[in-house]
Amino acid sequence: MGYNSEDIQKILEAGVRAPSGSNSQPWKFRVKDNVIDVLALPEKDHPILNFKYRGTWLAHGALIENMAIASSEMGYRADIKIFPDKSNPNLTARIALESSASKDEPLYKCIFERTTNRKPYESHPLKMEDKIALLESIAGRGDFRFTEDPDKLKILGEAVAVNEIVMFENPLLHRLVFEEIVWTEEEERKRGGGLYVKTMELKPPQRFALKFFKYWTIMKLLNKLGAAMAIAKDNAQNYAAASLMGIVAVEDNDEDFISAGRLCERIWLEATRLGLNLHLITGIFFLRQRILRGEISEFSQEHIELIKDAYEKTASIFDVNEGLIALLVRIGYDGEPSARSMKKAPEVEYI
Ligand SMILES: Cc1cc2nc3c(=O)[nH]c(=O)nc-3n(C[C@H](O)[C@H](O)[C@H](O)COP(=O)(O)O)c2cc1C
Repeated sequence: MGYNSEDIQKILEAGVRAPSGSNSQPWKFRVKDNVIDVLALPEKDHPILNFKYRGTWLAHGALIENMAIASSEMGYRADIKIFPDKSNPNLTARIALESSASKDEPLYKCIFERTTNRKPYESHPLKMEDKIALLESIAGRGDFRFTEDPDKLKILGEAVAVNEIVMFENPLLHRLVFEEIVWTEEEERKRGGGLYVKTMELKPPQRFALKFFKYWTIMKLLNKLGAAMAIAKDNAQNYAAASLMGIVAVEDNDEDFISAGRLCERIWLEATRLGLNLHLITGIFFLRQRILRGEISEFSQEHIELIKDAYEKTASIFDVNEGLIALLVRIGYDGEPSARSMKKAPEVEYI
């Protein structure tokens, strides 16, 4: 079989650098000889946004893509079976490693450099060579569609910012958002993840206000003065500040969310290699899936209409008439983000 346990550890370490919803890192591993079982911990993800655990599956797609790249770099062929055991839905993948010639994987080192950057980016198109490299990196790997039209970027910015209106006006979602935020690096370390407030790229007055927004009685009062709307308006402008936005269109099934996560990670790593920034946005797409299935008891009619309208505008820009939009990314030039989120060491059981 010719595998080396240090290589397996390196493959797992590359895996866990993947993005996850609010940095939940919903995974653990079981290793037997040359076979790695990837196990999901979906309860770590947002109970409302993580519709049918598909946020977890997106994150696992990214994790698996990192592991595939690392395996190849270490000199293995990775035989990856997605959802190999229908009786164990939390077994996301079984990866069997077989020795093969080591390949130079230029994206391997990008796995450790990749990060979310939520800043507004420079508002000009990508250099042609960067755009071509990005598109080539994902050719044949899924249905990625993009636009660079500034008018469309503005509409898309406003559409995805509808998420913030719902998050700050709905008491349940408001509570869940604030449960995910961690305020200091120490808290992040102790908790082993969470959405570190410094990565949210808030301006100082916004960061100050957020401390008060966490109390629902205050938020509710401020919403009467249009606070949630104002946050969404501000964010919409930041979102639109990008060279391009793209979406991944999928069929309505769980496997496709794994594939979308793999594609998203690959374009993110290539963007990193090119010195570009990327910000993944999913909120309204998961809310819309919930509404589509009639799971609407948590939402006001006004919010349901806002989410539907935002989804339809996005789908119309990208000409998505069938299936679902799984995610949106904004890509562009900017410096470094103000902070990076912390990653836990892989949790592994060797059997
Ligand atoms: C399924 C999924 C959904 C996400 N949704 C959003 C989102 O709607 N908005 C956002 O700003 N970041 C989103 N992210 C990015 C995560 O918050 C980010 O990956 C995480 O905090 C870890 O940071 P990192 O990407 O720098 O490693 C999402 C990531 C995943 C995997």
